[in-house]
Amino acid sequence: MGILKQHGKLERNLLFLVLGIFVTVSIGGIVEVLPLFTIESTIEKVQGVRPYSPLELVGRNIYVREGCYLCHSQMIRPFRDESERYGHYSLAAESLYDRPFQWGSKRTGPDLARVGGKYSNEWHVRHLIDPRAVVPESVMPGYPHLVTTPVKGDDIAEHLNTLKFLGDPYSDEMIAAAKSDLSDQATPDADVEGLLKRYPKAVVGDFDGRPDRLTEMDAVIAYLQVLGRMVDFTAFDPATADR
Ligand code: HEC
Repeated sequence: MGILKQHGKLERNLLFLVLGIFVTVSIGGIVEVLPLFTIESTIEKVQGVRPYSPLELVGRNIYVREGCYLCHSQMIRPFRDESERYGHYSLAAESLYDRPFQWGSKRTGPDLARVGGKYSNEWHVRHLIDPRAVVPESVMPGYPHLVTTPVKGDDIAEHLNTLKFLGDPYSDEMIAAAKSDLSDQATPDADVEGLLKRYPKAVVGDFDGRPDRLTEMDAVIAYLQVLGRMVDFTAFDPATADR
């Protein structure tokens, strides 16, 4: 009981209370922050993470515009139930070129950090037009306008340039090829050799079932199909990644 009485005194003295709060919060802060100074980088060194291709970038912007992040996270936490369901937990390096990051804070729908390659392009088209056509109990809204809205890509080179200015490693070659890369990625039979060298693991081909048109549907699916695909996890060792 003695200590409770002492606490009563502390609570009645504003100065002591504020000091006490400050000391307690500082200890919590130090415990959280100090260990970070012992590691060289908080971003693991991994192979494979690259800036988004022009089409993926446009898709990502549509993802942000439509507010997909309000229902979907892109952050697999390092817990067993999460990694069994979604795959390897998310690495900071995987969000390196996300401005702003899409970790999200709510999961009305599943996490999308590793949705790339999980479904076919056709499945995504049907699902995005009318989710209940493929998942009857779904509460996700449909986005049928994506398939009728053409991608306006006139400013794509400037877009890459701006990201380069902010530090993303877009080369002059990537910026010069941005306009053609944008449409080539979704055009069947286009010459994509250079594109795949610039953006390894980019998914190419027609996405929306309309090979003659570049639509927002193409862009969103190109983006979804690369999510979580860049890092080669067979070559990833968490014990040495932060050294
Ligand atoms: C109102 C909440 C909501 C919004 C907004 C939303 N979704 Fe969903 N999403 C869901 C729910 C719930 C599911 C699970 C049922 C289903 O598959 O439809 C889902 C499932 C998905 C899946 C399948 C994931 C998997 O692993 O099975 C993808 C891909 C997806 N959404 C993409 C999107 C995209 C892209 C957008 C934005 C254009 C979006 N969602 C917006 C709620 C939402």
